[in-house]
Amino acid sequence: MLENLQSTTTLHNGVKMPWVGLGVFKVTDGEEVVHSVKAALEAGYRSIDTAAIYGNEEGVGRAIAESNIPREELFITTKVWNANQGYETTLAAFDESMEKLGLDYLDLYLIHWPLPSHGKYVETWKALEKLYKDGRVRAIGVSNFKIHHLEDIMANCEMIPMVNQVEYHPRFNQRELHDFCKKHGIQLEAWSPLMQGGLLEDPTLVEIAKKYNKSTAQVIIRWDIQTGVVTIPKSVKPHRIAENADVFDFELTPEDMDQINALNQDKRMFADPDDMNRV
Ligand SMILES: NC(=O)c1ccc[n+]([C@@H]2O[C@H](COP(=O)([O-])OP(=O)(O)OC[C@H]3O[C@@H](n4cnc5c(N)ncnc54)[C@H](OP(=O)(O)O)[C@@H]3O)[C@@H](O)[C@H]2O)c1
Repeated sequence: MLENLQSTTTLHNGVKMPWVGLGVFKVTDGEEVVHSVKAALEAGYRSIDTAAIYGNEEGVGRAIAESNIPREELFITTKVWNANQGYETTLAAFDESMEKLGLDYLDLYLIHWPLPSHGKYVETWKALEKLYKDGRVRAIGVSNFKIHHLEDIMANCEMIPMVNQVEYHPRFNQRELHDFCKKHGIQLEAWSPLMQGGLLEDPTLVEIAKKYNKSTAQVIIRWDIQTGVVTIPKSVKPHRIAENADVFDFELTPEDMDQINALNQDKRMFADPDDMNRV
């Protein structure tokens, strides 16, 4: 049911994950991230997406601690960075993230990139399985994994990832990957859902937005959840944080959805995960 910011999808292990969360990529640690996360929590968000490489886990943790929201109501995601891939290094990276976040358990831990040139994502995944079995994280998943990376994990590991967080927006709707994930019960999650602001003037989206008296950002976020994809738009501005969450009082028609789906150009904004080698 898509009723409000606390509405959830159920991952294949039964854990509930909110459909909409706040992303904090490129949000500076300290006051900026603390203010953004607090604005989101006050607006009703319960899901926050950070990563070790964003360098703002401490600020996210501070905002959570100061919010006084019961821990079990929150859904906190962080990610193991490329340089820390490997079994022992991932376990150590997890401890470091938890220390910075000030949490005693995590909701979702992701492998940030597959980094195939390093050949370590299978052993990294085995470390995530251990963290899961030890009860330190409620769900484990991957990010930027293509079908062949997922197949590799499924052939060589025990558990199927619960989530795959990937670039996903109307210009790049990942149809084939989405179908694969649906077939295997892997929840797709959209990063850069607003194409980092690059889609907000699109004439088709502007027209649809006018019909509902909504913004183009709201139309895209609504399209995400109506396509069954969890979404984590980023903003540091409280009015936009609230706007991005005000998507539960309208519904796109099948015709609107078709028009938005037709904007797909199979065009990535960022690197192909097979070529992403940054550590
Ligand atoms: N796993 C990965 O590899 C990966 C990669 C990239 C991103 N992510 C995650 O996905 C999250 C979202 O992606 P993103 O940060 O790249 O981009 P995004 O959410 O697509 O777009 C963010 C940009 O849009 C602006 N914006 C937000 N809401 C708006 C609104 N209602 N109207 C107008 N402009 C608006 C923001 O500016 P202001 O802040 O000034 O409002 C910011 O410049 C990240 O924060 C991160 O958590 C993950």
